[in-house]
Amino acid sequence: MTEHRYEVGFIGAGNMGEALIQGLIQSGHAASGIAIADKNAERVRDLQGRYPGLASAEAEDLAADCATLVLAVKPQTLPDLAPALRAATDRGQPLVISVAAGITTGQLSGWLGASTRLVRAMPNTPALVGAGVTGLYAAATASHEDRATATRLLEAAGRAIWVDDEEQMHAVTATSGSGPAYVFLMIEAMQEAAQALGLPADTALELTLGTLAGATRLAAESDESAAELRHRVTSPGGTTERAVQVLEEGDLRGLMRRAMAAAAERSRELGR
Ligand SMILES: NC(=O)c1ccc[n+]([C@@H]2O[C@H](COP(=O)([O-])OP(=O)(O)OC[C@H]3O[C@@H](n4cnc5c(N)ncnc54)[C@H](OP(=O)(O)O)[C@@H]3O)[C@@H](O)[C@H]2O)c1
Repeated sequence: MTEHRYEVGFIGAGNMGEALIQGLIQSGHAASGIAIADKNAERVRDLQGRYPGLASAEAEDLAADCATLVLAVKPQTLPDLAPALRAATDRGQPLVISVAAGITTGQLSGWLGASTRLVRAMPNTPALVGAGVTGLYAAATASHEDRATATRLLEAAGRAIWVDDEEQMHAVTATSGSGPAYVFLMIEAMQEAAQALGLPADTALELTLGTLAGATRLAAESDESAAELRHRVTSPGGTTERAVQVLEEGDLRGLMRRAMAAAAERSRELGR
């Protein structure tokens, strides 16, 4: 069994890398067991300032010396970066977890070697506040223990949900990976509409955020479906009915289907 200097190494420590690092540290992992390699030196200094003890290394050294290697660079960076790590991952034999949208385990094993133990993860930015949800897929090379390691790592930033078919990762990307942006857009739209109806900006925002958080919690905790809950607040001839009618006539469902199909298609493009 190879001895590793670091428990987890991150190549790329941007938004997503930091969200996961923060989750790990908050859930009790020692910062000294986590190392980062990021080509942005200022970013490395900034993170080391905010997470004292966090180690840094060159990408190749990190790949050879960590038990779990998280690839958290932009997908476009991987075709150049990953092949350059092959010798190091051969030496260190880490479990490799890629969070890069669209990049397949087939591409990764082509770059890193067919025996590399691989997991793909699609986290989302609410991980920054410990409320993320991550879709995970393991290649056949990953063991039962590797899956447990990946679950533990991603659960440090929220919930982790496995899919069995890699093709479904496109749908995961379109649903939970990109999903927070749809919700933020909804917040903007509701706040703007509330202001147009005469509310001050802060009141409009507070009511919007409270409503989205409360309705989401109710939907999560209730035994009733979202459709049933909606019917219950939509009394015939009432205000909600009028509003929902406008949303249905505007084809909100069709719009969401098209938006998510576009995200899934972009995910497929990134994997070609
Ligand atoms: N953000 C999300 O909501 C989200 C959700 C799910 C998955 N993801 C995935 O997470 C990955 C990272 O996204 P992000 O939003 O965290 O991106 P990001 O903020 O741009 O972070 C990437 C970091 O990697 C650095 N980097 C670039 N090339 C490198 C190299 N060759 N070696 C070492 N470091 C390098 C970048 O430095 P420079 O800034 O100097 O280039 C940057 O600091 C992406 O693959 C994305 O698909 C993101």
